[in-house]
Amino acid sequence: MKAIVLHKGGPPEVLQFEDLDLPEPGPGEARVRLRAAGLNHRDIWRRKSYAEAAPVIPGSDGAGVVDAVGSPRDSAWVGREVVIYPGFGWGHREEAPERGFEILGIPSPGTYAEAIVVPVANLVPKPEHMTAMQVASIPVAGLTAWRALFTQGRLMPGQTVLLPGIGSGVAGFALAFAKGAGARVIATSSSDDKLRLAREQGADLVFNYRDEAWESQVKEAVGADGIDLAIDHAGARSIPACLRLVRFGGRVVYLGLTTGETIELNLRPPMWKQAHLIGTLMGSPREFEQMLQWMRVQRYVPEIRHVFPLAEAAKAHAFMEAGKQFGKIMLHI
Ligand SMILES: NC(=O)c1ccc[n+]([C@@H]2O[C@H](COP(=O)([O-])OP(=O)(O)OC[C@H]3O[C@@H](n4cnc5c(N)ncnc54)[C@H](OP(=O)(O)O)[C@@H]3O)[C@@H](O)[C@H]2O)c1
Repeated sequence: MKAIVLHKGGPPEVLQFEDLDLPEPGPGEARVRLRAAGLNHRDIWRRKSYAEAAPVIPGSDGAGVVDAVGSPRDSAWVGREVVIYPGFGWGHREEAPERGFEILGIPSPGTYAEAIVVPVANLVPKPEHMTAMQVASIPVAGLTAWRALFTQGRLMPGQTVLLPGIGSGVAGFALAFAKGAGARVIATSSSDDKLRLAREQGADLVFNYRDEAWESQVKEAVGADGIDLAIDHAGARSIPACLRLVRFGGRVVYLGLTTGETIELNLRPPMWKQAHLIGTLMGSPREFEQMLQWMRVQRYVPEIRHVFPLAEAAKAHAFMEAGKQFGKIMLHI
């Protein structure tokens, strides 16, 4: 099979398009012939830092058709269109995964390939109203946004949610889900074009965070009370503003550290406001089912603007690193 293989960490060009043996499923496993894979920012971190001796296939998002299973009891899966739940070992608690929880794709073989073998437990039937490309855009970013908004953020209809950096894949899903839940959405971006697209997709208020006055503009727009919830993926450069903008008893849920991991924080204002700062990581298999069920009922279809052929994964990575995307970047297989 053809696959994108990473031999050592480095710039996008280290992603090589190669021929590999087709993987065979063992007991309790299935082989999925992938039709599409999605990029996540994680793929960039992993590509840059990869230092293991064994070559590996990146990619956490994928959808396709099951063409083989390792155990006869699973034969009903053969021929079915599926999307892959992108985690291993979440466990039974909803509040957090077990220690040792792993995301699909590095160290395990990922989805930038014509085929992948995963446990049957990770297969979920594809919602019929979506294409494989559409559903493959959802797993990591969609699930992360779902958990951040509803499980961790406890978003309620009528509440106001701030989404910094709306160009990101996660923020795009958060916008769709928050509007679906009847919330008011404030989005920020470095790009006026992306803000225009966000408005088209339902954002109520938009601000360019390159403008230093963006925070006071948000404050003025929401009034003295502040926002109910912020979902932040940008990290150090954005979390302090989220904490200042959140209301008394409000929540800042953070899931990414794109602009840095360390902040200096005056602890008094969040204490006084009794604000919640909550970390979150992807989501459980139950949340994945819930999210897909919501999508089935709503006939929700993600909009995809950026598709590259599998062979051009390096170009797709360079595109993501340049921050040119609005929403998900996909690989057609
Ligand atoms: N915890 C989890 O389970 C989980 C899951 C998925 C992703 N993540 C993390 O979330 C982050 C985003 O992931 P992604 O795949 O959605 O990435 P992505 O599509 O590459 O998003 C990058 C976006 O970050 C925004 N950004 C950069 N600097 C910013 C700043 N100072 N303030 C606000 N926004 C800023 C930009 O938005 P504009 O172009 O609009 O300016 C940029 O387009 C990554 O750090 C990733 O590792 C975590």
